[in-house]
Amino acid sequence: MSAESLKNQNKIAIKPRRMAFDMAAPINPFAFKNNSLISTFFYSLSAMFPDGERFFIHSVRLYRDDIQDPELQAQIRGFIGQEAHHGVSHEQLNDKIETLGFPMHKIVEKLSSRITFLKKLDRNRQLALTVAMEHFTASLAEFLLKNPDILDDVSPTIRQMLIWHAVEEIEHKSVAYDVYQKYVNNHWMRYRVMVIAVTHLFSRIALYQVMMLRAQKHWPSWREWREAFTFFWGKKGVLRDNIRGLRQFFARDFHPSDIDQSHLIEGWEQQHPDIAALQVN
Ligand SMILES: [Fe+2]
Ligand SMILES: [Fe+2]
Repeated sequence: MSAESLKNQNKIAIKPRRMAFDMAAPINPFAFKNNSLISTFFYSLSAMFPDGERFFIHSVRLYRDDIQDPELQAQIRGFIGQEAHHGVSHEQLNDKIETLGFPMHKIVEKLSSRITFLKKLDRNRQLALTVAMEHFTASLAEFLLKNPDILDDVSPTIRQMLIWHAVEEIEHKSVAYDVYQKYVNNHWMRYRVMVIAVTHLFSRIALYQVMMLRAQKHWPSWREWREAFTFFWGKKGVLRDNIRGLRQFFARDFHPSDIDQSHLIEGWEQQHPDIAALQVN
């Protein structure tokens, strides 16, 4: 980790914020650019967040009795508080999306049986999975904060939730990694688990998208395919950006703080006053 990035990351406080999103505000069925492929991609992520993030908390808690460092303990408390709030907010959003005719609850059920299986793995593997997914979410968060304009024509509640979530993902991106480095420190396991996790993640997203489109009896138009391709794989595409982030993870001396994202969250309240105003604690 470079001295500069370490300095910047250490300056970042991990502050759980409870938010009052307006869940009564109307949401378009295909809230992202009126595009079913882009919308169901984000709905799939939202379906996975509550149980997924509770799993992240669980995997870090398995090391609770080993951790003596008060600074790391405080960071873990911040991480747990943030992920717990994310889970609750995305659950509310998922309920809302369900009312639009998407099988969110069915998807959550499917995922929960997978998570029951994951909890049977040894604790090092569970933590490695959290480390991998935290890197994925931090890369996605970076993308959203770098390109907030892509959320301009998204239903406001979803836009607000994603920006708030992105800010906090960057704040706590190093916590699981620091625990892993201290108590596991197995690079090959970290690489292996990342490859498996990303493969599973994208096959799950695709499966959930099919379930949602089937429930909507909607077959994407040529316009939607074209737009989605640019959105995911174009020059400024979200997945293209994510793959760049993924490559850094495979360096032996990788640390999340090496990727300096502090400028993306500094002053976010001024940049997004409508979102900052939703904070209730
Ligand atoms: Fe989160
Ligand atoms: Fe996270």
